[in-house]
Amino acid sequence: MQASPAITAQQVPIALGDRAYNILIGQALIGDAATWADLPVAHAALIVTNDTVAPLYAARLRTQLASRHAVVHQVTLPDGEEHKTWQTLNLIFDGLLSNGCDRKTVIYALGGGVVGDMAGFAAASYMRGVPFVQVPTTLLAQVDSSVGGKTAINHPLGKNMIGAFYQPQRVVCDLDTLTTLPARELSAGLAEVIKYGPIADMAFLDWIEANMAALLAREPAALAHAVRRSCEIKAWVVGQDEREAGLRAILNFGHTFGHAIESGLGYGEWLHGEAVGCGMVMATQLSLRLGLVDAAFADRLTALIGAAGLPLKGPRLGAARYMELMRVDKKAEAGEIRFVVIDGPGRAAMRAAPDALVAEVIDACCA
Ligand code: NAD
Ligand code: GLY
Repeated sequence: MQASPAITAQQVPIALGDRAYNILIGQALIGDAATWADLPVAHAALIVTNDTVAPLYAARLRTQLASRHAVVHQVTLPDGEEHKTWQTLNLIFDGLLSNGCDRKTVIYALGGGVVGDMAGFAAASYMRGVPFVQVPTTLLAQVDSSVGGKTAINHPLGKNMIGAFYQPQRVVCDLDTLTTLPARELSAGLAEVIKYGPIADMAFLDWIEANMAALLAREPAALAHAVRRSCEIKAWVVGQDEREAGLRAILNFGHTFGHAIESGLGYGEWLHGEAVGCGMVMATQLSLRLGLVDAAFADRLTALIGAAGLPLKGPRLGAARYMELMRVDKKAEAGEIRFVVIDGPGRAAMRAAPDALVAEVIDACCA
């Protein structure tokens, strides 16, 4: 039996015309029939999850879906960023085809960002597109990856390099799932929460600072606010620039350095959120050296990232290797790396920077 929710459920709309949808945020949502009402009616559903999340939450989801779909199939992927590959993606297509799934089949992504990104990519491409629903079970996925329609797999030469923009029908953020999340994963999710402050909302940064202890203690009210405000900011950005023609790139603050750490060390060595946290320290140092923020701002943001339990020093791959890896970034143009920098507190911008300055930042920020 689930405890009754202490937090009132909330909705954040994503305004994308005929691709608009809602993000539901609350407790005990997976086991509540109302959560699944109004979703596409279809004969079949396919739950995509992984071997860590399946034993925790798949039965709860399956019970609800059984009253909406005549058949509920499941594909359980191996867990880990290192499995975000073509080979693993193909297991989803195997499951869809071997079960005779038609083009109305609804895919439910139950898990963290790795499951969500792969299930979303499968939904975008199976029979040229079938409906899908995001059921994110990590903090990182609830505040970022499940929202906005970016789907992808990794390539050995670059992170998230193969993918599609494809919006879900709904995002269901059941805060109760965060109770089983390992502490290291909670910290990784906090990196993406912190990100929204310096790029868009300094009042939110103040709130995160004041509530870091409550967030680390997983107090439902604190988690609910962090997820809601993060989703509101992401919805505001994606509503203006769904396919990253410009503005949306600000959501990649810290990611250029972070993706280099992830692919340079081998996927799965550092968590994505850890790499983003450290990448934000590096991007802030670059902003400082470009004269865009002062040292007090850089120190404040670095201290907050540390307070979330995230690493502050990057791995010593060498400046030349970082540069080589960062040139594969999706924001690079004609081989020129473009960084998301903080252009004054609460405001982000895209900038190129001299190689020597970037190398100086890398040397200063790696141990
Ligand atoms: P993840 O999906 O690997 O999940 C982290 C770990 O937690 C995994 O071991 C998972 O099995 C486990 N887990 C998940 N839910 C759990 C729960 N409730 N209880 C216990 N364990 C649980 O990692 P993540 O941090 O969720 O996502 C990172 C991925 O998201 C990266 O691949 C990144 O590139 C991607 N991402 C995508 C976007 C986007 O816009 N699409 C944005 C940010 C990140
Ligand atoms: N996480 C970056 C984006 O969704 O654009």
